[in-house]
Parts: sequence; C-alpha cells; structure tokens
Amino acid sequence: MKLIIANWKSHKNREAVEKWLDDFEGKYTAQVEKQVVICPPMSSLMFVSNRLLNREKNKDVYLGVQDISPYPAGKYTGAVSTENLNGFNVRYAIVGHSERRRYFHETHNDVANKVAQCIDAGITPIVCVDDEYISSQAAAIPQEHLIKCIVAYEELSAIGSGKNEPVEHVKEVFAEIKKYFGSVKLIYGGSVDVDNVQDYLSFCDGVLVGTASLDVSDFIALL
Ligand code: PGA
Repeated sequence: MKLIIANWKSHKNREAVEKWLDDFEGKYTAQVEKQVVICPPMSSLMFVSNRLLNREKNKDVYLGVQDISPYPAGKYTGAVSTENLNGFNVRYAIVGHSERRRYFHETHNDVANKVAQCIDAGITPIVCVDDEYISSQAAAIPQEHLIKCIVAYEELSAIGSGKNEPVEHVKEVFAEIKKYFGSVKLIYGGSVDVDNVQDYLSFCDGVLVGTASLDVSDFIALL
C-alpha cells in the first residue's frame, strides 16, 4: 500500500478548503493499492474530518495533521494535543518537518516526545529527516517507538524548489535510514509532482507532497 500524503502547510482558508474538497470529490476515483492522506492546517481539521467521514465517497482517503504537541493534554497554551484530536479520525501525524525545525526551533527531543504522544494515542508518526541528522534523530527516539514510525526523507534543497532529489541519492539515504530506524516504511518528499512521482513510487512506500497538492487538478493528476 503506497501512501500519498498531501501537506497543505499553512495555505488555504476555510473557503479554499471547501472548494478543494468539492473538486476533489468530483474528480477522485478510489485508488488501487494507494492510501491518500490529507494534512490540512489545524484550523480546517474539523471540517475536513467531517467530510472524510463520508467513507463511501472517500474510500482510501485519510486524515493527518502537520504537527502535534510534544506534551499530553494540559496547561500548554496554543498546543494541540493528541487528546484534542480524539474523535476526528486522525490516522497520521507529520513530526519534525524541516520547516518546524527551522522556524519553530524544534529539537530532536521535541520530535521524540511527539512520536511518543502519537504512539500512545494510536496515531502513526511520520518522522521527517534529512541527510545530516538521521542518526541523531533516531538516537533520541526509544527503540520500541522507532519501529512504529514511518520515516520521510526530505532534503532541504528539494523542498518547494522544483528540484527533486535524484532517485539514486534517495536510495542511498534510505539505506542509511534503515541502519538506524530498522525496517520501517520509507517515503520521499521534496518537489514531488506528476512528472516524477512514478520514479519514487517504484521503490518508496509513499510520497509527501506539498506544492503539487495545493491545486486539486495537480493532485488528481499526480494520483
Ligand atoms: P514540496 O513540499 O512538495 O512543495 O517540495 C514537500 C514538503 O515539504 O513536505
């Protein structure tokens, strides 16, 4: 089963989300051997969740979040805990995205705590790594949690740049990830689009798609 994960980042207001879902439902046909995961901004989570609960139309479409609190429910103003997500049918959480590390100063320990929160709540963490910190990120995560992660390799220079990482290099990095994380599912992200998605899906367990998921026609073409 291949995962095709749409990461909308902080794009789209409610109206744009509604329009995207309308267009998507009009054009989407159930996928063979693929799971589509939509990760909307938190502000649209309830809305997207309600729409996705209509399982007949949206077979194989699941909900993910772009981030999660490293803490349990409690006095953490502004944070969204796994308890807050209860009832929304959230199946996946992206953790440690390079934009979270860069702009919100997340550390390996924060990411490890987010992984722990997800696993406790039955949410599958999608841990993002780049070349440089695979081993240090893995070292911060307890062994029993490592095997429950999906790992997304996203090279910084490939994100949002239109310069997707060469397949040969992605394969080398995957081999490195396996050394530290074990035999986890491995996905690639960074300028994945309709023209290159097949190159990655031939050997990856899925792809993380930012820019090419924003426009519904682009995303449908990619699927
Ligand atoms: P991109 O984003 O597809 O726009 O490169 C991917 C990501 O950051 O997850």
